[in-house]
Amino acid sequence: MNILYDCDPGQDDAMALLTALGNPDKVKILCVSTVGGNQDINLVTQNAGHLLAFCEQQIPLVKGQAGPLLNQLRAQPEAHGKTGMDGSGNLDKYNYPVRKDNAILFMADILKKQPEKVTIVATGPLTNIALLIKTFPEALAKIVKIVVMGGGIDHGNVTKLAEFNIWTDPEAAQIVFDSPLEVVMAGLDVTEKTTITKKQIASLQAGGSVSKLAGNLLRFYQKSGEQFGFIDSPVHDLVAMEYAIWPELFETVPANIKISTDHGDTYGQTYIASETSDNKGTENVLIKRMKVDLFFALLQKSLLFLDQKLDS
Ligand code: RIB
Ligand code: CA
Repeated sequence: MNILYDCDPGQDDAMALLTALGNPDKVKILCVSTVGGNQDINLVTQNAGHLLAFCEQQIPLVKGQAGPLLNQLRAQPEAHGKTGMDGSGNLDKYNYPVRKDNAILFMADILKKQPEKVTIVATGPLTNIALLIKTFPEALAKIVKIVVMGGGIDHGNVTKLAEFNIWTDPEAAQIVFDSPLEVVMAGLDVTEKTTITKKQIASLQAGGSVSKLAGNLLRFYQKSGEQFGFIDSPVHDLVAMEYAIWPELFETVPANIKISTDHGDTYGQTYIASETSDNKGTENVLIKRMKVDLFFALLQKSLLFLDQKLDS
């Protein structure tokens, strides 16, 4: 399976990226694109570069949109730290080339050149994906589906009703969810049930170089989660990537998922509309639950693969 990975690293984005890198027999990342979200675009792009350099990769990295279509970016240093991915220690010695290309043009060009359809995994605000769809509608024919970490049907995390990735750019999310694309939504309803325990984190910190990096990132994220009432913090973005790679481990339902762009309490809310949407052509999909006992095991196995590659 070939994927385009759009993200805003972020400790949990990092787990998603490392899991994809740790399963080269199942997934090939054609491009990593970044979007302003957890932190500003330069910081999240630097974080993505650090991870790719640390894992000795050559995957194209492009810097995407700095902020939402209409709103000002409201980054989340309180959750992810001032770098947007605190916990790793200083990775500045890991330099990685960021392409000069415009991310949207680069993604469209990759899609055009692919003989096979591509899956998009998006774990940040959907600004880049919305612009891709609107600028290059013909690219839709080369996309199998898009797996999105975002939203929450019965609650939010940045407001009572809205989840951060969708709330940051609801207009972009509406363009993506209402497009002819099949959107698979990994929302808070499932991601807040997939946590990694302190004991599991400690086991990673005692492991090889990539496991240790992941464990240190998760340690920061777990401690940061305590301020929001979490004991073992959810690793939201990893759910989207594990679904993309192992969909058979998940329970899903077709759902006409809509985005509220009305300014007020519901701004950025994701909800299920009663009527089925006839103008979309495909049905979106809501992830209901996963085999949670495999959640950590799949990450651990992926990190071990990278340890063996780097530490040998
Ligand atoms: O609400 C969780 C989402 O917001 C995750 O993608 C996290 O990385 C932040 O971007
Ligand atoms: Ca993210």
